Amino acid sequence: MNIQKNNVDTSEGIYIFKDYCEVKGGKTLNGNLKISGAKNSALVLMAASILSKGQINLFNVPKIADVEKMSNLLISMGINIKLNRDKLEINTHRILQPSQNLFFDLYKGLRASFFCIGPILARFGIAEIPLPGGCCIGARPIDEHIDALKKLGVKFQFKENHLIAEAITPNRKLIGTSINFKCKSVGATETLIMAASLAEGKTILNNAAQEPEIIDLANMLNKMGGKIKGAGSECITIEGVEALKGCEYSVMPDRIEAGTFLIAAAITRSSISISPVEPKYLTEVINKLEQSGCHFEYANQSIKIIPNQILNSVNITTNPFPGFPTDLQAPFMALMTTASGVSKITETVFENRMHHVKELNRMGAKILLKDNIATVIGVKKLQGSSVIGFDLRATAALALAGLSANGKTIIQGLEHLERGYENFASKLTNIGADIINQKKKIELG
Ligand code: UD1
Repeated sequence: MNIQKNNVDTSEGIYIFKDYCEVKGGKTLNGNLKISGAKNSALVLMAASILSKGQINLFNVPKIADVEKMSNLLISMGINIKLNRDKLEINTHRILQPSQNLFFDLYKGLRASFFCIGPILARFGIAEIPLPGGCCIGARPIDEHIDALKKLGVKFQFKENHLIAEAITPNRKLIGTSINFKCKSVGATETLIMAASLAEGKTILNNAAQEPEIIDLANMLNKMGGKIKGAGSECITIEGVEALKGCEYSVMPDRIEAGTFLIAAAITRSSISISPVEPKYLTEVINKLEQSGCHFEYANQSIKIIPNQILNSVNITTNPFPGFPTDLQAPFMALMTTASGVSKITETVFENRMHHVKELNRMGAKILLKDNIATVIGVKKLQGSSVIGFDLRATAALALAGLSANGKTIIQGLEHLERGYENFASKLTNIGADIINQKKKIELG
């Protein structure tokens, strides 16, 4: 992995490097595209490895910047990490005590680093972790994580920019109990599964999130000797065990990457196949694409999409799984800008996830935004333009819009894309798109 630095001060002067993506629209896509391991699963499985005293061998790990950041964070804890192709070997044999791993800088810019709180607490009874803070798509509070951990016997102290969490039980072990989440949170459900897996007694999580990545986490922990039942449903039971052992585990395919590329095919009115993919995890997305005029063929972990040349507008409302995923709201909106009619796109999961509207309008889209509801009036053709992606999925959406637009689109925000998509540009190039990553050097002095 080669992550670009944004600013470099050399003896020759100061430069800003602006990484961007350049797309020439109008190409038809064709062929098979390989889906990588899921970002949202890999990151939590890496955190879960802290729970084990043995070695975890993770396969199908995507080569993305977030995985690299999480690897560096684990290394700072004394954990030994080896990456060989898509295999990540994680050995926690020499893990440091929590008081010794205070490299707070490594947590910055990776919200998923907060996942480490559950396993560190479960294993050591104390954790000291920076507060994750909000991000561009919303405030992203952590009250559900905190309230639930308190019920397992954890006391929190808030310092300037971090929190100290400590089990106040006699032997510093967390104690299982029944928890009712106020809202469905993927992160809080995962934190509690990890924390409870080494707790004394049974923990019951009610109103748990049902995302497939939670099933992936439970499956890996069960392979490590955990006792978790009900993952994928609203009620998850975790029977705490004494210790968890090492295991080999393959990260599930990325359903959000899969959805993004299905939409890439639809927006270019092209037929492609993607694999490996679990169609049942994309049910709502496929339903909406079907309503719009796309047809699907299924074979052994592979999906072929065949779109009509004219697609119809459909309404979507984002919701926790099994609802329409918020992570595909922006890509689907890009598609709807090219559909026939008017569609209503409602974001209910995050309060500030509509930055792409202004950028799509720069490309000739007609989108009216009121609160978190976008009314998209389909246009005949988008026009290439210079646009900015402010977050991961919005940047992907703009690249998809560029694929169908007349002329050239320059999308700034490549660093977001590299956080979560493995070889985004080259995967699309392989199936006929004209898209390249560029690095522009701007001299400041
Ligand atoms: C995860 C995904 C992210 C996806 C999101 C929703 C990872 C690494 N990221 O993020 O890609 O967009 O699920 O599917 O898996 N909330 C609270 N209090 C809390 C926690 C959450 O109010 O303590 C709210 C959030 O502000 C948000 C909603 O719950 O409005 C859902 O958030 P959550 O499911 O926790 O998202 P993440 O786990 O952060």
